[in-house]
Amino acid sequence: MANQLITFDEATQSFHLKNNSISYVMSVEEGNVLSHIYFGKKINHYSGFFKYPRLDRGFSGNLPTSLDRTYSKDTLPQEFSGNNTGDYRVPAVIIKSESGARTTDFRYVSYEIINGKPSIKGLPHSYVIDENEAQTLIIKMEDATLNATIELSYTIYANRSVIARHTTINNNSTAAFDIEKLASLQVDLPKQNMEVISLPGAHVRERQIERQLVKHGVTQFESRRGSSSHFMNPFIALANPNTTEFQGDVIGFQLVYSGNHQFTLERDYQDQTRVVIGINEYNFDWQLKPQEVFETPEVLMVYSDKGLNGMSDTYAKLLRERVARGRYQYAERPIVINNWEATYFEFDEKKIQGILDQAAPLGVEMFVLDDGWFGHRDDDNSSLGDWFEHANKLKGGLRDIANRVHDKKMKFGLWFEPEMISEESQLYREHPDYALQVPNRGKTPSRNQYVLDFSRQEIVNNIFNQMTKILDAVDIDYIKWDMNRNMSEVYSMAYAAEQQGEISHRYILGLYDLMNRLTTRYPKILFEGCSGGGGRFDAGVLYYMPQSWTSDNTDAFARLKIQYGTSLAFPISSMTAHVSAVPNHQTGRSTSLKMRGDVAMSGVFGYELNLGEMEDGEKSEVVNQITFYKKYRQLLQYGDFTRLKSPFESNYTAWQFTSPEKDIAILFRYTGLAEAQAEFTTTQMANLNPEMIYENVTTGVAYGGDELMNIGLYDTLQKGDFTSEVTILKAK
Ligand code: DGJ
Repeated sequence: MANQLITFDEATQSFHLKNNSISYVMSVEEGNVLSHIYFGKKINHYSGFFKYPRLDRGFSGNLPTSLDRTYSKDTLPQEFSGNNTGDYRVPAVIIKSESGARTTDFRYVSYEIINGKPSIKGLPHSYVIDENEAQTLIIKMEDATLNATIELSYTIYANRSVIARHTTINNNSTAAFDIEKLASLQVDLPKQNMEVISLPGAHVRERQIERQLVKHGVTQFESRRGSSSHFMNPFIALANPNTTEFQGDVIGFQLVYSGNHQFTLERDYQDQTRVVIGINEYNFDWQLKPQEVFETPEVLMVYSDKGLNGMSDTYAKLLRERVARGRYQYAERPIVINNWEATYFEFDEKKIQGILDQAAPLGVEMFVLDDGWFGHRDDDNSSLGDWFEHANKLKGGLRDIANRVHDKKMKFGLWFEPEMISEESQLYREHPDYALQVPNRGKTPSRNQYVLDFSRQEIVNNIFNQMTKILDAVDIDYIKWDMNRNMSEVYSMAYAAEQQGEISHRYILGLYDLMNRLTTRYPKILFEGCSGGGGRFDAGVLYYMPQSWTSDNTDAFARLKIQYGTSLAFPISSMTAHVSAVPNHQTGRSTSLKMRGDVAMSGVFGYELNLGEMEDGEKSEVVNQITFYKKYRQLLQYGDFTRLKSPFESNYTAWQFTSPEKDIAILFRYTGLAEAQAEFTTTQMANLNPEMIYENVTTGVAYGGDELMNIGLYDTLQKGDFTSEVTILKAK
């Protein structure tokens, strides 16, 4: 039996979820309205008497059943607000009933506490491996007029500063109704002057940290693109204005979902901030028939009183240990050579052999054959959907390539883009209806390709069968799963008119089904997510694939921001990073091989360039990089990561990897543009043992842990733009 992490006090009608670091408190108010009290640092003893003050406020109405003019749902902090019943703030649930009314008002009915954490059907989610590591509170709410119940699920882990939440709705009536919105979570935070940190971006410029004051009105962070997107990652954090990387309160919210998402903040007239998160209500309308159930994706809420690094550390461990799964969850990830930036579509078996001959002696462990091996794909205008081998490209075919790779004692990886269809393909000629499209309208092309209608099981099956044919015939160790456009004309030929608002979400369910079937059937394959780089870098994909291609931008300097931003919410073991050629193909910038290596090593490391064009001196540098990475790979992929200096704030970036025992740390420092007569700067390390003595393995100088964290080290002034410095410190 787990320690009691969740309690309900009958006398005060309050719930308290508590572990060693956090508390989450709610209470049942008059009229069975479920109110939010607190989420933050652990409260040892809660009286149960913290009630929202009563006051008659103009234009904020009262409960229909009460004459009390001082009690209003429009001001009360709540856990799940309805629509059209006097709370004018953003609702968590909107249902259109048979009558056409869009009125929802769910009130508390009962609760249940269970050990462990139930799974969410068909959706990725955080999990437990032992029932004692978490408890789950399920609160039942009812809208008696609709005859529907909602279950709000709250899981608290015993040893993590995490609350996982999601929502389930049951239609108990005899009539269908339309769910127009169902949030995974609502929380009304009474704090004032909060700042929100988000991760907006673009293709080749993902997850750029932005921080702003939450002002009155509605602020929204969302994707309407059918995927979690490059443009707005499904993550936000709410921090105090004085919260830094190391100090202060912050609450993180991360949606475990890869489709359209919506993070809404509303600062109300009393300066409370409502947070509502879930599937985007845009183009969403789910018809729930009598006795049917709908489950939302999950939100992972993290509280840290140790600043942003504290929050990121909790996310990194949670995602690594209780969201990622499979054989590679904790395994050292192989060093890759990918042919994309080396050859693009122009390769044959000789070129591939050349890459293998060059790569193997350098110590590279895996070769990945990227786009262009299938159908008749010689450029990006054809063949998506035709997952059979290109007849004229690789003499001897994939099997021969796999043998050549394995002969070199390397692993073999292959690229797929399972969700897409080109008009110029056999699949399209046979099944033009397989593409998402609206009858009698043109289809919006993007990269000259279209999205398969994964809301239809037979289409998912078709792709599954094509892929298994290849995977059963060829010895493949890794798959890169790409997705190179966003959705438009979201409509399915197979569904009734009233179900068209379900298609975006049904697509994601179909996608997860395919990912689930393939990853289960091929447990030895390492899957890597990708969507034109990091266009679907989310915890939903991570549940199936423990790593993702962080960005199509391989420029080392641009990568500093991308990787720094990504590390806010994701573990380093999930971020792949390659050394590519200069001038860089995306930015035209030239950086040294050292800088490129030092940035890519701060992720899951690899190369993506023509090794044949390297000079001997460069090759020996590559050998050194690979040797270094192999030696410290465990620490670099699974160690504790701490951000020290932000590339968003200055010319300098610094971060650090530390072993759990704190007996070894690697400090990476990077400088952007060089300056003449530059000031001397120092870097203070973090997360060391103040009592320990650490030796710089290169110079032999011994420093106190407290010295490194307080006085720090002078940064070396280097000539030239885009320089880097790596320092290894070992406890004596
Ligand atoms: C986008 C990916 O991010 C690239 O790495 C590469 O695989 C191309 N697609 C291939 O089309």
